[in-house]
Amino acid sequence: MAERTLFRGARVVDPAAGLDDVMDVLVQEGGVAAVGSGLDGLGSTVLDCEGLVLAPGLVDMHAHLRQPGREDKETVETGCRAAAAGGFTAVAPMANTDPVADNAAVIHEIRDLAVQADLCNVFPVGAITKGLEGEFMADIGEMVEAGVRMFSDDGRCVPTARILRNALTYAKTFDDVVLAEHCEDASLAEGGQMHEGYHSYTLGLAGAPGEAEEIAVARDLAVARLTGGRLHLCHLSSARSVELVRRAKAEGLRVTAEVTPHHLVFSDEDLVAYDTNLKVNPPLRTAEDRASLRAALADGTIDAIATDHAPHAVEEKEAEFDRAPPGTIGLETALGAVLTELVGPGLMDVRRAVEAMAVAPARILGAADHGGPIEMGRPANLVVFDPAASWVVEPPFHSKSRNSAFLGRTLQGRVIHTMLRGELTVTDGKPTR
Ligand code: NCD
Ligand code: ZN
Repeated sequence: MAERTLFRGARVVDPAAGLDDVMDVLVQEGGVAAVGSGLDGLGSTVLDCEGLVLAPGLVDMHAHLRQPGREDKETVETGCRAAAAGGFTAVAPMANTDPVADNAAVIHEIRDLAVQADLCNVFPVGAITKGLEGEFMADIGEMVEAGVRMFSDDGRCVPTARILRNALTYAKTFDDVVLAEHCEDASLAEGGQMHEGYHSYTLGLAGAPGEAEEIAVARDLAVARLTGGRLHLCHLSSARSVELVRRAKAEGLRVTAEVTPHHLVFSDEDLVAYDTNLKVNPPLRTAEDRASLRAALADGTIDAIATDHAPHAVEEKEAEFDRAPPGTIGLETALGAVLTELVGPGLMDVRRAVEAMAVAPARILGAADHGGPIEMGRPANLVVFDPAASWVVEPPFHSKSRNSAFLGRTLQGRVIHTMLRGELTVTDGKPTR
């Protein structure tokens, strides 16, 4: 096995270093050994990258890998393989496993599984409250000691401002700890199958209004102001939420936000065929909301793109719409979706897409080895993709599940190589292990 790999003639897009140029990148012993033109490939595996983009490996700060507890839907290994195939080198799995990741033992278990799989760096997210039950704080201190930097009750919103206040105040005593909120007022969202509005009325489905999110966003921003704590807002879906975040940032609050590829691509109109793969939480909202999300991502009000990869069993998703669980898989389609729907039409450039999919999530997660810069001595966590290659989203997936909102769609932009610490986890579009 060659210890050196030379990526030859790639368009290197590295926002962290302010670089966008055709270059060679030489990797040796797990790290970047040189970036330049006409590098010597002697003794290296040479990968011809003409016409391809090379960027820092993608970072997904919000995924559900389902292990422990629902290994029928996904395991850390299959989730990480799906991630690598999608160009990711780092993934943060949410704590809504069974048992819940609310203590160091579960965190260690997930990390051990990830080390065995050796396909991605995994940064398990710890629960904010015990059992995600919203009553008592989880063992946050113990989990920080175990290396956790992000905490979330995702799947549920922290139910009261008081618990959030306590958790943010406590988290503030540690360096670089962030709380990630799934913003949803349960009393308004309860029973909602989709966004409440014209389309929920015509389809005869119970709706959850945008206000269910906006109320929680407003409350959480107020608590962030009160505590001075660091808050991250998950999967924003509404234009008014975006407006609240814009103002909070202008005010100087320590807040960051993410959006999913599916909220950037679809809207509530797309539910006309009752496709349960488009049933997601938060629900797909209006085309106007989607336009605001796109603009906010382009201008940096929304920092990051996160997949919210949420695998579910076929029989669950084949149920009637109101019985199917919410969620879409997303690790294998995220990059293609962003390139096709946002970069292609000129809503943002490749540099901004890489920033939102690698640089920003790495920074928010504290994943210092990821997100670039691609410079000598840095760990070689990289992705190479073909921005011109088209493909159709269809099974088989590397994920154990197949509930993709993008099924049947043609995406332009395909991952060719993914490299984790100098080793190819994906080459020529196929996982190496
Ligand atoms: C998530 C899941 O399946 O774990 N589903 C989703 O639609 N995002 C949980 C959640 O956030 O509701
Ligand atoms: Zn969520």
